[in-house]
Amino acid sequence: MAMIEPINGKYKGKDIISLDQFSPKDISFLFKKTSRMKKIGANAKPSNILKGNIVTLIFYEPSSRTFGSFGAAVKQLGGATIEILDPSHFSSVSKGETLEDTIRVFEAYCDVIVIRHPIAGTASNAAVAAEFVPVINAGDGIGEHPTQALLDLYTIFELHKRLTNLTGILAGDMLNGRTVHSLIKGLSKYKNNTLYLLSPGELKLRRSDYSNFKKSGIKLFEIESDKDIPKNADFWYWTRVQKERFKVKKEYEKVKNHFVLSNKLIKERAGKYTIFMHPLPRVGEILPEVDENPNAVYLRSEIRNGMYIRMALISLILGK
Ligand code: CP
Repeated sequence: MAMIEPINGKYKGKDIISLDQFSPKDISFLFKKTSRMKKIGANAKPSNILKGNIVTLIFYEPSSRTFGSFGAAVKQLGGATIEILDPSHFSSVSKGETLEDTIRVFEAYCDVIVIRHPIAGTASNAAVAAEFVPVINAGDGIGEHPTQALLDLYTIFELHKRLTNLTGILAGDMLNGRTVHSLIKGLSKYKNNTLYLLSPGELKLRRSDYSNFKKSGIKLFEIESDKDIPKNADFWYWTRVQKERFKVKKEYEKVKNHFVLSNKLIKERAGKYTIFMHPLPRVGEILPEVDENPNAVYLRSEIRNGMYIRMALISLILGK
């Protein structure tokens, strides 16, 4: 398939690799479809929208939410899945088969391929290898995680009724966190958004990413202390320090859980309407005491929206 083509009003047959492909109009169209999917999801009766369709989920890296919600999304719509977790052990990849050959084989069995891989750029390579079916990036190393950003944008939109004039805090691992890379790209498409990037100096955005994002017009402020969090932001998006990207364990230990989201911090710096988000998994950077806060959405709507947005996206890609 063609590589990283803009959606430009036409989802059918498109690979989904990066947030760069989406215009605000494309996102708005997806959100309308997502709201319809929400009704199907709440109905407890699978629809037949994807009856006869098969989606391959091939995950070279562990996943709970993305894998689970893509699988649930397809099944909610009456489709079927081929599920390959850890292909390096449980497929012919273990015998040395290349990514390109693996993709060419599975596209013969299905209508869409969803791939997660530890190396940035691999989803795009998979899309080039696939001749007949679209490929969806379910997270490529430190690159992007477009469907996570779309569900995060949907969650913000649902609660704040806008994607413009927002002030948000992104906290944790800006360097390695693919979800923040996609989310910054997403919010850059809308007017007058300001993001405060809270991380230890070692985990700041790469300078090339920082200047590319800035060029897109979004206001970015890098901060290294939670005392610099502006009061009453619209959302706080906490993230895990990505342990698996560190070559030296000691380096990870030095920066992990540098910023912990607690009720104390919320009392000091959040507002009545601040929502608390996290792509999950969390490993200590949000205290369980925060879970009861009604504005904590990471185990609530942010999770469910992941399934709805993926239901909508797969349907659109398949022209349904
Ligand atoms: N948010 C996210 O990508 O979670 P998983 O790694 O569990 O899929």
